[in-house]
Amino acid sequence: MPRIFSGIQPSGELHIGNYLGAVKNWVALQEQYESFYCVVDYHAIIGSYTPDDLRRRTRDMATSLLASGIDPAKCTLFVQSRVPEHTELAWIFNTITPLGELERQVAFKEKASRQEQVMAGLLNYPVLQAADILLYLADTVPVGEDQVQHLELSRVVARNWNARFAPEGAPYFPEPQPKLTPTRRIVGLDGNAKMSKSLGNTIGLLESKDEMWAKLRPAVTDPSRMRKTDAGNPEQCPVVFGLHKAFSPASTVAEVEVNCRGAQWGCVDCKKVLLEHMDAELTPIRTRAQELTAQPSLVDAALDAGAEKARAVAQRTMEQVKERMGLA
Ligand code: TRP
Repeated sequence: MPRIFSGIQPSGELHIGNYLGAVKNWVALQEQYESFYCVVDYHAIIGSYTPDDLRRRTRDMATSLLASGIDPAKCTLFVQSRVPEHTELAWIFNTITPLGELERQVAFKEKASRQEQVMAGLLNYPVLQAADILLYLADTVPVGEDQVQHLELSRVVARNWNARFAPEGAPYFPEPQPKLTPTRRIVGLDGNAKMSKSLGNTIGLLESKDEMWAKLRPAVTDPSRMRKTDAGNPEQCPVVFGLHKAFSPASTVAEVEVNCRGAQWGCVDCKKVLLEHMDAELTPIRTRAQELTAQPSLVDAALDAGAEKARAVAQRTMEQVKERMGLA
């Protein structure tokens, strides 16, 4: 089976944008690939944070992932800092990564421009990401569009290391390729192009039906539709129509098209239909999350076993790497 690796920041509970944009895809991919999924807490300590909060967010993320259907029997789910080989390989990769390649990363330039003092970890973020992936010799990385440049850097790292330490014609590290997530970006409830926790325009994956409704009811719709009797245009309604496409069956999506354009449904009617379909998909996830929260030892056991599985692979890679580099 081909091997994939992907990482997610420990941002706490997932929101429906993370779920639709990444995690649902991971759940599908664990059937077809040998999959490694990692909560990247070493990436998360770049920037300000509090230790207790990080611990909580890491745990909540693991709980959300397990509840969403990431199945430790089918994949390897683990927390990055539990496998010290990630930082060990990252150091090694720092020694073969040209500074210029890091300085031209768009994500770095954007974040650095907003900070008074830029920490070296921000610059080296993609080197750690390359180590994450290459430690498992993964050649495929399911990610969103925003990670394409980081993956390019991972390929430079693999290529540079191979050129120096692997015999010609027998590369050791694969050059990992992004596998772009099929779902288009999920628009925020306020109509902002991105659903993101920091923008406060999300619905949490584990929110109750009532909580979802409280957020969905005021969500932005086609702005030119002032009254219920005005004809609407679903194409001008990326929030609600977008969520219908993600959660509702095709027959309902077709019905929305007709009833919006014909003004048979008002926006509130349309949102009520959406709420039912969202709730149907999310109720089992919420129930599993409650079970896991009530029995924290289940999450601990899953993460312990995941770290052990990951570490066995990581140690084998490090033995090879150190042997070839004169470090062992
Ligand atoms: N940089 C990724 C993000 O912000 C997270 C990440 C860290 C990652 N290591 C990774 C993604 C390795 C894919 C593979 O979303």
